[in-house]
Amino acid sequence: MAAYEYETHEYDCIVVGAGGSGLRATLGMAEQGLRTACITKVFPTRSHTVAAQGGIAASLGNMGPDHWQWHMYDTVKGSDWLGDTDAMEYLAREAPKAVYELEHYGVPFSRTEAGKIYQRPFGGHTTEFGEGPPVQRTCAAADRTGHAILHTLYGQSLKNSAEFYIEYFAIDLIMAEDGTCQGVVAWCLDDGSIHVFNAKMTVLATGGYGRAYFSATSAHTCTGDGGGMVARAGLPLQDMEFVQFHPTGIYGSGCLITEGARGEGGYLTNSDGERFMERYAPTYKDLASRDVVSRCMTMEIREGRGVGAEGDHIHLHLNHLPPETLAERLPGISESARIFAGVDLTKEPIPVLPTVHYNMGGIPTNYWGEVLNPTKKNPDAVTPGLMAVGEAGCASVHGANRLGSNSLIDLVVFGRAAGIRAGEVVDRTKGNPSLNQASIDAALDRFDTLRHADGGVATAELRLEMQKAMQADAAVFRTDKTLGEGVKKMTDIAAKMNDIKVTDRSLVWNSDLMETLELENLMPNALATIVSAEARKESRGAHAHEDYPDRDDKTWRKHTLAVVDGKDVTLNYRGVHLDPLTTEDQGGIEMKKIAPKARVY
Ligand code: FUM
Repeated sequence: MAAYEYETHEYDCIVVGAGGSGLRATLGMAEQGLRTACITKVFPTRSHTVAAQGGIAASLGNMGPDHWQWHMYDTVKGSDWLGDTDAMEYLAREAPKAVYELEHYGVPFSRTEAGKIYQRPFGGHTTEFGEGPPVQRTCAAADRTGHAILHTLYGQSLKNSAEFYIEYFAIDLIMAEDGTCQGVVAWCLDDGSIHVFNAKMTVLATGGYGRAYFSATSAHTCTGDGGGMVARAGLPLQDMEFVQFHPTGIYGSGCLITEGARGEGGYLTNSDGERFMERYAPTYKDLASRDVVSRCMTMEIREGRGVGAEGDHIHLHLNHLPPETLAERLPGISESARIFAGVDLTKEPIPVLPTVHYNMGGIPTNYWGEVLNPTKKNPDAVTPGLMAVGEAGCASVHGANRLGSNSLIDLVVFGRAAGIRAGEVVDRTKGNPSLNQASIDAALDRFDTLRHADGGVATAELRLEMQKAMQADAAVFRTDKTLGEGVKKMTDIAAKMNDIKVTDRSLVWNSDLMETLELENLMPNALATIVSAEARKESRGAHAHEDYPDRDDKTWRKHTLAVVDGKDVTLNYRGVHLDPLTTEDQGGIEMKKIAPKARVY
């Protein structure tokens, strides 16, 4: 057994991760007087939410008529009827409240002439249950909305006496014999010390796992750490086959160009200069849902109508818009286009390509953020003491495809919900439980094994192998052949974790060891993705299967659950929640409005 000394800390609640959802949960818990700590591997305002550009969806109706039921309908349709109806209602209903709270906390939203929060159009957001024109529902702080939210929530969390453990890497969950989560074991990157956090409630807010792919808009820190910890605890990951490609990553660097660019009037063209989206989505055109736009761009390229010397990308035009609009509404991407594409977007189009952007799947939860451990008897059974929020979690509001700007609202609505729920279930009068020493020892043993790993494969080499396999075989379009090859490749790649080589044995700022721990987290996420995708014999949302081009609600309107053990993945399924929170007579949505139908834009 590895001998490491450690310091023990006791809290009511700990939150792992300091992005939008982690900070909103931290703030909500601290505001109620719960002793709360936030543990984060990067400085809070450097979390990946800082890169969120275009905005946050809420039916405020500042720019024209809107209604939470229209938002809910768009979310249901966007999810390709795989989202849980109760969670989607909760999201759409609570969204305005959550955004006004942000405003009152101090988020510097852009303003209309009348001084209201400015809202812009985004893909898939419509009026009149998909029958009316696009709606301006996405509340924006120019094109730096995530940045504004993150700074505000961090300040408010400090004001409410939340404690922060910054540049601490969570190694593993501490699980009691009875399956209750008791906290985490963490490593302080700065001085090499080990820490045990004993908590009555642990919230995983660790973000997505975009870095399982070669080209992603996600930060290098998006390594699915929560999913990795949950998989090692023997709990399932849900709907991992659904990976979102954002239509407009800058060609080459993958850097994000916000959908807000098309919301402000930007459009895509092929090598004939044709606005091809008019052909594929005659009503909403460039503002169709992003899985649809990404597929159309890929088809144009495949059919020989891509732009550039190699005909392998598409042009995004903003040069017809007034320079003042670009300066006021899109200053961030004006800078990104210049730095990463060498383009002055007031004069030339930006070269773009669909790029991995978001994971619809993650740790299954109910709409309070409580982590599910479904059993045959109870598909909604929860894991006591454990929550997951944000991109790490899967509530599931996005189902098979997320609408743009529904991510930031997911972060704050469900971060807030986790805080409310913790206030109800955490007993402040009781002391913290005694910890399961075997679980702590197992975490430290794993840490020590990796620290001294002396195999034949360098971490960076194996990571690249994984990223290339995922990029090639779990792409925008998939076939039985690519997915079958992908499963085989990924199984072999995961097995090589046993032959990993770490060269630095120190404990202080050992980035070699940290990247190896991150790779060990990415691996179960990647494996679950490819195996779940191979098994799903239909096309739905972001899972476009060329051998099964249609959606098959009879067989496949169900969530995939993947339990990963090393290189082995076992699949199970659980039913989609079909019932909303409120019935029609209680002011809820009419069921026939959200009944499955063909998804056209
Ligand atoms: O395009 C964007 O600004 C991204 C927004 C989102 O993913 O929600």
